Amino acid sequence: MRVIIVKNYDEMSKKAAGIIKNRLEQKPDLVLGLATGSTPMGLYKELIRLHKEKSVSFAKVRTFNLDEYLGLKPDNDQSYHYFMFENLFKHIDIPRENIYIPDGLTNDPGKFCQWYEEEIEKVGGLDLQVIGIGRDGHIGFNEPGSSLASLTRVKTLDEQTIKDNSRFFEKPEDVPHFAITMGVGTILEAKEILFLANGASKSEIVARAIEGPVTSQVTASILQIHPKAIAILDEEAATSLQRKDYYKYAEEQVRQFEKNS
Ligand code: GLP
Repeated sequence: MRVIIVKNYDEMSKKAAGIIKNRLEQKPDLVLGLATGSTPMGLYKELIRLHKEKSVSFAKVRTFNLDEYLGLKPDNDQSYHYFMFENLFKHIDIPRENIYIPDGLTNDPGKFCQWYEEEIEKVGGLDLQVIGIGRDGHIGFNEPGSSLASLTRVKTLDEQTIKDNSRFFEKPEDVPHFAITMGVGTILEAKEILFLANGASKSEIVARAIEGPVTSQVTASILQIHPKAIAILDEEAATSLQRKDYYKYAEEQVRQFEKNS
């Protein structure tokens, strides 16, 4: 895994947006996997800015979101539908029909999940998946113990996740206990993965994900076997990494090499 350590949240967001801009230049009909949470908000802000200054267009892009709570209407301000439209989609030129987000109101989750997988396959798979990490190491809503080969399905949320995510809800009882999430296997199939983490509260789990054993107990650790995963971390999220100095040195070497070639 390539590990890029930057100064702060702002730099993390800009670096990630720069990578997406570059991939869009290479492939305007990019298939993007997207995430929610506070982590990618700065990235989305930067993408909106780049779009407004006409540096990027999403007219041909298709997006697939990682997950959605079961039981929340799309107009519920805690739903991931709402989050994505407010924080990205309504500010860019992506056609509505190119946006895919799991349907939290489906009355046949099994069938829906299978359809979601098929739609991803139909467009040739995810080119680039953006992910964050939960404090228990989850990606999407793949809680500890999720099969590392899992596909899109319903997961029961962990107590820690419910507690962490309750900060966005009026009352902790309002946090849904179930969600539809792409599986670990679905995420792993993406051609490239952009893993973002910031803040001191993530440092321990980030170190377990990047340097610990690959285990279903920390589903983010599966990124270690992905051929093209890039982690962009701010200094705080990187503090517990044992090989932090090496990652910084390696990035500096690449920078020097690129400058001289
Ligand atoms: C939720 C989402 C994850 C996200 C995680 C971390 O559980 N399902 O995709 O990575 O929250 O959120 P935050 O970025 O707010 O720390």
